Amino acid sequence: MTDSPLPIAVLISGSGSNLQALIDAQDAAQDYVVAVVISDRPDVRGLDRAADAGISTKVVEWADFESRSSFTRALCDVADCHGAKGLVLAGFMRILAPIAMKRFPAAIINVHPALLPAFPGAHAVENAIEYGVTLTGVTVHFVDEQVDHGPIIVQEAVRVAADDDQTSLHRRIQDVEHRLLPDAVSAFARGNLTVQGRHVRWDRMPEEAVG
Ligand code: GAR
Repeated sequence: MTDSPLPIAVLISGSGSNLQALIDAQDAAQDYVVAVVISDRPDVRGLDRAADAGISTKVVEWADFESRSSFTRALCDVADCHGAKGLVLAGFMRILAPIAMKRFPAAIINVHPALLPAFPGAHAVENAIEYGVTLTGVTVHFVDEQVDHGPIIVQEAVRVAADDDQTSLHRRIQDVEHRLLPDAVSAFARGNLTVQGRHVRWDRMPEEAVG
């Protein structure tokens, strides 16, 4: 464990239930601290959750920038200003430009509501139901320059029930996300994750998960 908690920036676009899981776990874990929450949209619930926890917030709106690179640079600048050593994309629905990976190398983590490489993109839960899979799940991975592609930190399967709709399945997927994401961020903050090509080695795997 590091002597002091590692500051991270959490990027959101909406409800922020994963942000809440990170906030709720940080005091017990004592290895990361959410230094700032950055949203690409104003008036989202996640910003209220951050404010309620006394965490600084910043809105960086896509429409205010002329390119993906300038948008990404602004996000990284905010994270830097708050001393963040890593970015966590917790329901952040924008694609970062490669400059983010240069400024935070092997230090950007994303949570995705499917078992990658199946169902990448913004409609993973809907796509899984439409396809008819009986098993989907959660992937927490490092971000690289391709969408939903970087080295996998941890995955866990979630069964699709015959009567599942998008809401019921996503709820069960999020229950798993809320456990896996703080575990992965803690491991990252403690320096317990080693990336070798596409493989991520844990010093110690969390229980119940396969990765
Ligand atoms: C989460 O389920 C996350 O996996 C998904 O958005 C949701 C955000 O929920 N992300 C993606 O689909 C990214 N491609 P939250 O705002 O309540 O954490």
